[in-house]
Amino acid sequence: MLLSKVSKGGLWNWMLLRQLSTPITRAGYIQRPYSYSYSYTHYLQPLIDSQTETKVVQGSIFQKHQQFSTTTTSNASKEGGEKKESISVTFVDKDGEEKHLKVPIGMSMLEAAHENDIELEGACEGSLACSTCHVIVKDMEYYNKLEEPTDEENDMLDLAFGLTETSRLGCQVIAKSELDGIRLAIPAATRNFAVDGYVPKPH
Ligand code: FES
Repeated sequence: MLLSKVSKGGLWNWMLLRQLSTPITRAGYIQRPYSYSYSYTHYLQPLIDSQTETKVVQGSIFQKHQQFSTTTTSNASKEGGEKKESISVTFVDKDGEEKHLKVPIGMSMLEAAHENDIELEGACEGSLACSTCHVIVKDMEYYNKLEEPTDEENDMLDLAFGLTETSRLGCQVIAKSELDGIRLAIPAATRNFAVDGYVPKPH
């Protein structure tokens, strides 16, 4: 068709047609980048953006997970590493009433009782010269966690009223983390030889 136009219109027409056809050709040439640009703008870029967003979101999730894990580990190590500063102790009085205390680590049960207005005598103030601080550990499990009584404590316990196999002197039971939850009963009566006139025989 082009050749027929050249032959009819002469050289100028041919050149004019060529000039006119060039944009078509160029349009095709130009269109490719345009198409690429259009495709890039409308298809590729959103895809890349969405993938980038996905990575960013994944990164955020990962970071959050890392933070959570770190926090969890941190909490776990705190719980595992920190020692308790006080323990829970329950005193059961002569009438069976319970009193729940928080006793600082290192404090004796006699001191804890006195600080909380619990009726537990302590005639010799913890110098192992009486048995008025006699307490009965309610659970054998906790009794077995206590330090072995010294000979002096055993001597005083021999004089205690209502001695049992889980009896101890309250001034000799010291709060430690293993004793958290211990329950101590106060006997219905105590024997104070200083008042009762009883003098222990030397061994
Ligand atoms: Fe006297 Fe405990 S208070 S032995």
